[in-house]
Amino acid sequence: MHNIIIINGPNLNMLGKREPEIYGNETIDDIKKECLKKGIDNNINIDFRQTNSEGEIINWLHEVNNNFDGLIINPAGYTHTSVAILDALKTIKKPKIEIHLSNIYAREEFRKKTITGEGMDGIISGFGISSYTLSIEAMKKLLG
Ligand code: DQA
Repeated sequence: MHNIIIINGPNLNMLGKREPEIYGNETIDDIKKECLKKGIDNNINIDFRQTNSEGEIINWLHEVNNNFDGLIINPAGYTHTSVAILDALKTIKKPKIEIHLSNIYAREEFRKKTITGEGMDGIISGFGISSYTLSIEAMKKLLG
């Protein structure tokens, strides 16, 4: 059994109400349920978290090396702004995958640059809730 953490950044607690034409109708709780189910099917235990605070994301990233086998993160708006999250990601020696519900390359110019992406093994973007389940499958392969 592997242990991974899935971190969700700011405004993802508003899913379902927030721009559903872009992000879909599922809530963060719906996504959590799908992820936990996918985890059980793949023998992966998932600690699923959401926060609106950049500092909290960074504190959680500092836990990864000691407490988890891998990291999946949707940094949300911080994807495009946060050098501090990138710096924390670079300290992590475990498999790391960035995910986005929407295709960030098919949206506004400012979303086409992922600062955090430089610290990741790979990025999955644009498959809605399936970005999460696909990332769990990819994580399973990375964990071997
Ligand atoms: C997002 C894309 C980001 O650009 C945006 O700020 C989000 C959500 C996504 O999952 O598609 O909050 O990360």
